[in-house]
Amino acid sequence: MNPIKRGVLALCMLASGGVFAAELTIDAAKPGAVINKDVYGQFAEHLGTGIYEGIWVGPKSKIPNTKGWRNDVVGALKDIKVPLVRWPGGCFADEYHWRDGIGPREKRPVKVNTNWGGVDESNAVGTHEFFDLVDLLGADAYVNGNLGTGSAQEMSEWVEYMTSDSKSTLANLRRKNGHDKPFKVAYFAVGNEAWGCGGNMSPQYYSDLYKQVETFLRAPQQYRPKIIASGGNDNDLTWTDVLSKELKKQTSGISFHYYTLPTGKWEVKGASTGFQENEWISTVSNTLRMDDHIRKNTAAMDKHDPEKKLGLFVDEWGTWYDVEKGTNPGFLFQQNTLRDAVVAALNFNIFHAHADRVRMTNIAQMVNVLQAMIITDKDKMILTPTYYAYQMYVPFQGATSLPITLKDNPDYSVGNVKVPEVSASAARGTDGKLYLALVNTNPNKPADVALNVPGQTVKAVKGRVLTAAAMDAHNTFASPQAIKPAPFSAAAGADGKLTVKVPAKAVIVVAVE
Ligand code: AHR
Repeated sequence: MNPIKRGVLALCMLASGGVFAAELTIDAAKPGAVINKDVYGQFAEHLGTGIYEGIWVGPKSKIPNTKGWRNDVVGALKDIKVPLVRWPGGCFADEYHWRDGIGPREKRPVKVNTNWGGVDESNAVGTHEFFDLVDLLGADAYVNGNLGTGSAQEMSEWVEYMTSDSKSTLANLRRKNGHDKPFKVAYFAVGNEAWGCGGNMSPQYYSDLYKQVETFLRAPQQYRPKIIASGGNDNDLTWTDVLSKELKKQTSGISFHYYTLPTGKWEVKGASTGFQENEWISTVSNTLRMDDHIRKNTAAMDKHDPEKKLGLFVDEWGTWYDVEKGTNPGFLFQQNTLRDAVVAALNFNIFHAHADRVRMTNIAQMVNVLQAMIITDKDKMILTPTYYAYQMYVPFQGATSLPITLKDNPDYSVGNVKVPEVSASAARGTDGKLYLALVNTNPNKPADVALNVPGQTVKAVKGRVLTAAAMDAHNTFASPQAIKPAPFSAAAGADGKLTVKVPAKAVIVVAVE
């Protein structure tokens, strides 16, 4: 709406005692695509304390654990119903040799983690330990194969080791190492970021290698993983274009990576806390570019795969800030604030809108690394605002997306950066309820959203809100509950209309009654 029309409308509303509200219509009669639970997937790489210390402490640790995995962290992750975990990398995957991580732990070779801080890699966490973790979480497994320094034979044998129910030597080795039945591998990726840390390849060269490798990834039908091609990032559509053309008969989908940097520049990304409003809005604006990236990648895929057989798997996304002072730069440790929860929620809303193509995503990363759910320090842990965003959005896992229209949504701007004030998403949950998520990107004032569900009288909305006084509100070990969700509800007025007042800089998820 142009500013003059909006001003006149606002004056009329005030004169009549009403509020100026954006109008949200949910078309509940036109169900869209199902939001695959794996859209809420996580990523755990051998990076910093993302696995060692953060989740894995070993069975002999004084920190209470089950099979070496921390009970407190696993318990918290179960509460957000983690559906899928990607492992072992990232860049680490292309230097990981799976045979180093099986058999008695004390006999495993120690390697150097050349990508991340040059620290010793004990290989204490290997295939069996990873599957213990996903079993404890009740999650599915996404294993990333090594194309960079591995081979078709190495990946073929890993898949056989994990999935074969035969009496082959490799299947028997798995049994000897403690797992009789095949592991359930939901996804297997051939390499990671082949355009960069995964081998600096061209998409054409990668396609040829992928075809060769995929040919030899044999698994019994009921244990066969979805095989994923490692795609491009940011604005580069070449990878999606080439891979969807070349590999459409041999892949379940193509991955895509996009990280949100406040400044948009890798040299100086921006701080995780203590930032000004210009970096709040630039972060919001940069993260909203995910929508455009998905649209363009989808269009590239549609050319070669109009039936949408392939998925677009955003298997790395999230905020990436300058590392915290005094920490190992190779460990990618950063604080996590209300801004991160807003980023997470904005991306969820985008993923829901593209649920027909985006069937899996993995935030980077699960614990202690980049936009983490959980931060640990020895035996202590804190839950981050991002954790709470995931918790609030649980009803959207497996839900059926519903079309929405948002009219008269005002802009929020700082200088020449402008973003829509409200972001919304609606879905029919697996429990039959109608769920609504709302984000107010404006840190300075509440946003009013008038709700309209044709064919249904909306009496009330009930759920939770996540907000705080400061843009960089965060939890610390000294103050672990500084920011957490609070109950939220709103009821229809005497006129039968319901307007949700979304607080400034807030995320809301409610059931619509
Ligand atoms: O998530 C951290 C790193 O970012 C991953 O290892 C790599 O794939 C990406 O560049």
